[in-house]
Amino acid sequence: MKVTVVGAGNVGATAANVLATKGFASEVVLIDIKEGLSEGKAMDIMQTAHMLNFDTKVTGVTNNYAATAGSQVVVITSGIPRKPGMSREDLIGTNAKIVKSVVDQIIAHSPDAILIIISNPMDAMTYLTLKDSKLPRNRILGQGGMLDSSRFRYFLAQALKKAGYDASMTDIDGMVIGGHSDKTMVPLVSLATYKGIPVTQLLNQELITEAVEQTKVGGATLTKLLGTSAWYAPGAAAAAMVEAIALDAKKLIPSCVYLDGEYGEKDLCIGVPVILGKNGMEKIVEVKLEGDEKAKFEESVAAARNTNSKLGDALK
Ligand code: LAC
Repeated sequence: MKVTVVGAGNVGATAANVLATKGFASEVVLIDIKEGLSEGKAMDIMQTAHMLNFDTKVTGVTNNYAATAGSQVVVITSGIPRKPGMSREDLIGTNAKIVKSVVDQIIAHSPDAILIIISNPMDAMTYLTLKDSKLPRNRILGQGGMLDSSRFRYFLAQALKKAGYDASMTDIDGMVIGGHSDKTMVPLVSLATYKGIPVTQLLNQELITEAVEQTKVGGATLTKLLGTSAWYAPGAAAAAMVEAIALDAKKLIPSCVYLDGEYGEKDLCIGVPVILGKNGMEKIVEVKLEGDEKAKFEESVAAARNTNSKLGDALK
């Protein structure tokens, strides 16, 4: 399988690196507009191949979309990242233009590719990609839910530790739906478990609320610490989605997809649980939302629609 990663910044390079070490792709092309950046990062990754025992060929190119031809999956990270104090939504004007131009060039060379959008504001960029490319919705996915769910698991582990359970990260399950946005993402407490045990049996309300709130601002917390947005978990999250598609694994991964009546919503892209396989999105799973989760999801939908309304001319 050939995979292209557009953007050789921190997130793109991490995605390429994780994809290489996983070994299921025969070829990963890293492309960027900055002369030499992709070539350098690809060369650096390839110089780990013997030590890390992988055969994936990682190549880097500057703006040469012909080199991406025939990719089966394309991860798009292009655009500017946020600085401390900025919301993801603040990036919309600049990133909409960049994402649109990238998508056009990618589709011209890889008309059958499945696209995974990471550029922020991710839900709006996924919607823009769908409208601009006119591709079927199963082939346009946004990466946010996988990342936010992974952060939720991390903060649940921290909460469990405070409650006296020093839990293995891989024993914790949790899912975040809604928009990839500090204010409105929806960590689903009702479905969060520690090795099958509902976390609500082990954590008091204070610890649960703390884990939920930390998850929602998980990206902003890292942006403050790092001076730019995070990359290890966002890159790994993209690679996990590519893997589910490449291996036709039918993994249940919350992803940003176009809703056409599911969850009572139409004409927007937002995070919901999705089965990922060789066709990209194979099925949207409609889970029963408990307590205020439904109202929170609706708030998230309203916020995503509001951001989409700012796409303006980019949608034409
Ligand atoms: C984050 C950015 C990548 O959440 O959206 O870290």
